[in-house]
Amino acid sequence: MARLRVGVLASGRGSNLAALIKAASDPAYPAEIALVIVNIAGTQALARAEAAGIPTRLIEHRTFATRAAFDAALDTTLREAGVEFVCLAGFMRLLTPGFVAAWRDRLINIHPSLLPAFPGLNTHARALAAGVKISGCTVHFVRQETDSGPIIAQGAVPVLTGDTADTLAARVLEAEHKLYPLALRLVAEGKVRVIEERTEIAGSVLDIAGFALFNPPER
Ligand code: GRF
Repeated sequence: MARLRVGVLASGRGSNLAALIKAASDPAYPAEIALVIVNIAGTQALARAEAAGIPTRLIEHRTFATRAAFDAALDTTLREAGVEFVCLAGFMRLLTPGFVAAWRDRLINIHPSLLPAFPGLNTHARALAAGVKISGCTVHFVRQETDSGPIIAQGAVPVLTGDTADTLAARVLEAEHKLYPLALRLVAEGKVRVIEERTEIAGSVLDIAGFALFNPPER
């Protein structure tokens, strides 16, 4: 079967991009990374994509007069490359309603919290300040409001005594690198349906009956 042609938008470190590239390097994976677009020159994400031999485009948002013009350039570039589906991976620009509508249910994002808790920036510091005992990450379809939209998959990690925003971020990031390829696989296999702004996943990936994560653990 033809693999889903995916475009990844990134702005920075690109570790989630690297996880997707690695997953897609397996010919059996149902998606291929057809294009990586970055909006800032010299980012690690760009270097990682180039090193993997993936076509890249630098589209600098600061060279556009309006958000709409920048998003139109993104849209045209994605379509010209035959991209069918878009993954945001640390892409630090708000997208316009036109772009979000054009790619509705073909545009996903990863966020380092168990949404709908802690959308936006400084996620881990806010999770620590709130005193949650479990945090994690979420892959979701993108809607207009920041970090909102039907949830595809989530991964949970414990918050440990003595955690700082950095140690918690590192623990969550490890989960992100597993979750994003898993979520993209489900979508590419056609297993994810959006129904009334929630998703239904065909076939259970894991039999979770009888499992629960308790934090602190039961004695
Ligand atoms: C990740 O924590 C992701 O969840 C968030 O931005 C960060 C990007 O990291 N949206 P990286 O660029 O993938 O390393």
